[in-house]
Amino acid sequence: MHLPSQVKLVEVGPRDGLQNEPENVPAAIKIELIDKLAAAGVRSIEAGSFVSPKWVPQMADTADVMAGITPQDGVRYSVLTPNMKGFEAAMDAGAKEVAIFGAASETFSQKNINCSIAESLDRFRPITEAAKKAGIAVRGYVSCVLGCPYEGDVQPQSVAKVAGDLMAMGCYEISLGDTIGKGTASAAQELFKIVTEVVPVDCLAGHFHDTYGQALANILAVMEVGVKTIDSSVAGLGGCPYAKGAAGNVASEDVLYMLNGLNVQTGVDLDALVGAGRFICDELGRPPSSKVSLALSREDAP
Ligand code: HMG
Ligand code: MG
Repeated sequence: MHLPSQVKLVEVGPRDGLQNEPENVPAAIKIELIDKLAAAGVRSIEAGSFVSPKWVPQMADTADVMAGITPQDGVRYSVLTPNMKGFEAAMDAGAKEVAIFGAASETFSQKNINCSIAESLDRFRPITEAAKKAGIAVRGYVSCVLGCPYEGDVQPQSVAKVAGDLMAMGCYEISLGDTIGKGTASAAQELFKIVTEVVPVDCLAGHFHDTYGQALANILAVMEVGVKTIDSSVAGLGGCPYAKGAAGNVASEDVLYMLNGLNVQTGVDLDALVGAGRFICDELGRPPSSKVSLALSREDAP
C-alpha cells in the first residue's frame, strides 16, 4: 500500500454533527467541545454555519460560539456560508476561513440551499471574491458525490464539473462529500481519480458519512490515490438534515486509530480526542458511535 506519511484531519462534528441534533445544544457546550478538540491537537475545526435559522435552527448561535472559543495558535475555525449574508456574518464573527457548499445533484441542491447548481455557483462567486480581498480562506464542498438521496446515481463527471468550478473560483481545497454514506471503495477511488483531472490531489479532501459502514474503507481507498485531508466527526455525531436517514460522518476516533496503526502522522492525541467525544455524548445523553471509543470504554471498565 502506498499511503501519505501525514494526513490533515478536519473535524466537522461541531457543525456537521450538531446541525442534526433534535435537541438544542447550548452554545457553552459547543464552545467547550471545540476547545477540547483543539486541545487534542486538531488543527482544522468547523465551528458552525451562518445559514438561515429557519432552515437549520441548530446553528443559529454560531456567532456566540465563535465569540466564546479560546482561539489556539495554528488552529483554523471555519464556518459554512451559503451566500453573502452568511459570509458577512462570518466576517463580523471574525472567521478566518469559510466554506461554501454546492452539490453534484440538482435535486439535493434545491432541497439543501433552495437553488440550482448554477445559481449556487453564482452565489458563491462574490463570496470567493470578497474573501480574497479580506484574506479569508475558502473551502468548497461538493455533496452527493457517490449518490443522491433523491436522484440515486450521480455521474463522476458531474462531481468533477462542480469541483473544478469551485477550484477555479479560488477555493484552496475541495471536500468531496458522500452525503448519504453509500459509496464503496472502488467507486470512491475511481471518483477521486477522475476529479484529480481538474483539482490537484493535494487540494482534495474526503468527507464520508458512515451510513453503510464503508467510510474507513473509502478513506483508505482515496488515500491510496494520494488524498491527504480527511473530514470526520468526533463520536460519529451527525447527519444531514436534507438527507433523511444518513448517518453521521465517520467517527474521528476511528479514523485516528486507523491512521495511527498505519503510522500516518496527524498530530492528534487519541485519548484526548476520545475524551472530547465522551464529553459531548454525556451532554447528549447517549453513547458515542465511535467503535474505538466504545472498545476503549470496555477495556477501561473495572
Ligand atoms: P432561502 O429561503 O432561499 O433564502 O434560503 P432567501 O435569500 O430567499 O432569504 C429568506 C430568508 O432567509 C430571509 O429572511 C433572509 O434574510 C434569510 P426573512 O426576510 O424571511 O426573515 N437568510 C439568512 N439568514 C441567516 N443567514 C443566512 C441567510 N440567508 C438568507 N446566510 C438558504 C437559502 C441558503 C439561506 C437556505 O436554504 C439555507 O440556509 N440552507 C442551509 C442548509 C444547510 O445548512 N444544510 C446543511 C449543511 S450542508 C451539509 O451538511 C453537507 C456537507 O456536510 C457535505 C456533505 O456531507 O455532503 C457540507
Ligand atoms: Mg456532511
